[in-house]
Amino acid sequence: MSHVRLTTLTLLPTFAAICTVTISYAWETRLAYPPTDSWMGVFATFIAISGLAAYLHFDAIPGENLTNQPLLKKMPAWLYFLLLTLFFLRAGLWTTRSSVVPYHPVDTLTYEAQVRHDAYLEQASTSKTLGQAADAYRERYKRHPPPGFGYWYEYATSRNSVIIDDFDSIYRDLLPFYAMSPQLIRSRTWQITSNPWHNVLGLSIRNGKVEISPNDYITHRWMLDSIVRMITPFAQWLPDMDLAFNVDDEPSVAVPYDEIEDLRQRALSTNTLDKFPENSFSPNRAEQWTPVLSNPTEYRVMTDLYRQPTFYEFGSVGCPPGSPARDQRLWDVQRVCASCIEPHSKGVFLANWSLAADICHQPDLANLHGLYISSVAFKATHELYPIFSQAKVHGFNDILLPSPWNYIDKSKYGPSDTHPDVPYRNKNHTMFWRGSTSEGISHDFAHHWKGMARQRFIHLSNDIKGPSTPQYVLFPADAARSSLGYRYIPISKSQLTDSFPTDVRVVEEIGRCNGIDCFQQEREFAPIVQPSDFQDQWRYKLLLDLDGVGFSGRFLPFLSSHSLPLKAALFREWWDDRVTAWQHFVPLDLRGHGFWATLVYFAGFEGKVGGKNVKLEPHDDQGERIAENGREWANKALRKEDMEIYLFRLLLEWGRLTDDRRDEIGFVSGPGL
Ligand SMILES: *[C@@H]1O[C@H](CO)[C@@H](O)[C@H](O)[C@H]1NC(C)=O
Ligand SMILES: *[C@@H]1O[C@H](CO)[C@@H](O)[C@H](O)[C@H]1NC(C)=O
Repeated sequence: MSHVRLTTLTLLPTFAAICTVTISYAWETRLAYPPTDSWMGVFATFIAISGLAAYLHFDAIPGENLTNQPLLKKMPAWLYFLLLTLFFLRAGLWTTRSSVVPYHPVDTLTYEAQVRHDAYLEQASTSKTLGQAADAYRERYKRHPPPGFGYWYEYATSRNSVIIDDFDSIYRDLLPFYAMSPQLIRSRTWQITSNPWHNVLGLSIRNGKVEISPNDYITHRWMLDSIVRMITPFAQWLPDMDLAFNVDDEPSVAVPYDEIEDLRQRALSTNTLDKFPENSFSPNRAEQWTPVLSNPTEYRVMTDLYRQPTFYEFGSVGCPPGSPARDQRLWDVQRVCASCIEPHSKGVFLANWSLAADICHQPDLANLHGLYISSVAFKATHELYPIFSQAKVHGFNDILLPSPWNYIDKSKYGPSDTHPDVPYRNKNHTMFWRGSTSEGISHDFAHHWKGMARQRFIHLSNDIKGPSTPQYVLFPADAARSSLGYRYIPISKSQLTDSFPTDVRVVEEIGRCNGIDCFQQEREFAPIVQPSDFQDQWRYKLLLDLDGVGFSGRFLPFLSSHSLPLKAALFREWWDDRVTAWQHFVPLDLRGHGFWATLVYFAGFEGKVGGKNVKLEPHDDQGERIAENGREWANKALRKEDMEIYLFRLLLEWGRLTDDRRDEIGFVSGPGL
């Protein structure tokens, strides 16, 4: 019967094809939260059933000669059923996984964060004596500590540093420079600082005194002055040397992946543990540094990408070839890119703060951050120049140092009788943010501002009219019993903003824009408010910290307070190893897709959504615990003393790195030199 054979011939392969497409599509969008997943499961089940029905129907027709059947038909029935069962299992797995989550991810994340912080602490300061500290150093970094290590140890312990051994960030920042000769490092320091166009200014240390190189900019004077203040307490133990300080907020050294990996490998082979080192820096170091003169040179080693996109030229060059950030161009900014989020997320929540900073799996970031879309001040090089910066993003090779902004308390945690920092529970139940649109420049009708993180979060927090996708919030699947797991429910932003107060506003005026891009933002973000007192913020439970052009001036003060900081950022600073997300602060994905779900977890929500009652109790205990953990830790490990201790150790390393006899010198035993 030819019409039956036709059905078989067409139905079965079609069935197989649809299954394959469905599986691969669902695999791609395998995020726990978008609605596509559940209907995908249903759809797949439907397809499977119709396929099976077609097969059975065919089988039921009498009189067919089996030997004439097409290949598929010859497949034994049990194999067919096995495949179908597997398929059902798979489809069933998604449906359950996508719609009901057994635990709230934040509960798990805070628990894991505690474990990770304890583990960090355990290895961060195991040594109890100078000798042990030196041994721990050799063990970790496969090198002797630099000369002067004894003085550093004395300095750190007398100031009760809770961290003695773990300075891995210094090691990571400096490692590739070991593949360069000291002479080259010194001459590059001079090249970069001798032309102030680079916005990298020089500091000289001579005979235990710190001086600013003559050709400085007056506007950045405070920054250099405060670094001088930060170094002065321990300058007497530093060798003569110069260093190049980046006065811009943006990082400036992005060496392409292959080259930096090669440098790292070569640097690793320079370890010199077996020799007996001499415990002092070389004499006559001062003469080796070419002095920076007050009349600038014209020689430029950097590319200027002011107001231009930077993602492909500088952002992603640090990623391995073939990684999505280098190969993919995502144009559809409306849709959340699932593969960009998944590696560092649990559902809509940010689960891995360090992986979230790795842009290599996140090609969509090219359109989601001011630094990448249209930079404010961006001068950078692909060569390994030794530049000290306050913050950097993934793929940059700047050497991080504590921000002078924090050191001299430009934004200070200073509650008072008029601005008290009351206990978490007594605070105003509001999410608060004040700031400017400073992250990038929106110009020439390009509407760059729509991609920038600050603007997107302001938009997210306020009930601004216009097309807006619903927010996915995780609620107990059964309003009465949370033991039945949780389910993502889409809620409109206006319903969320109605029930939960946010006070997220642009201050004074829309900046860094021109033409129509300014007017549009003024209209969109109205009302623009007057600046408020920084100390006034301790009134609020939840404080938002959003990436701007670089380091965050407010994060450390936020951490010190009884309020709970929520942070969305690509920039990383000197403290990144020692502060643990979900233990000391609440991390947010830069895309903002988990913003409301995170907020609702801490603040709670009750209401009718789509005719159904949904309710999540506020998690004040959890919020308060993170706020207090952060506060306690900031008072122990992020004090001004800790900034000095970090910088002291960094500069001793810098002294060794720039010493012509760097493989022959090092700390052996006994205090200091
Ligand atoms: C984050 O991811 C990195 C790399 O995959 C992994 O080594 C690290 O343990 C993860 N951290 C957390 C908090 O899961
Ligand atoms: C909490 O703060 C919001 C926003 O600043 C304000 O409108 C509200 O009146 C405050 N509530 C209380 C109880 O102080």
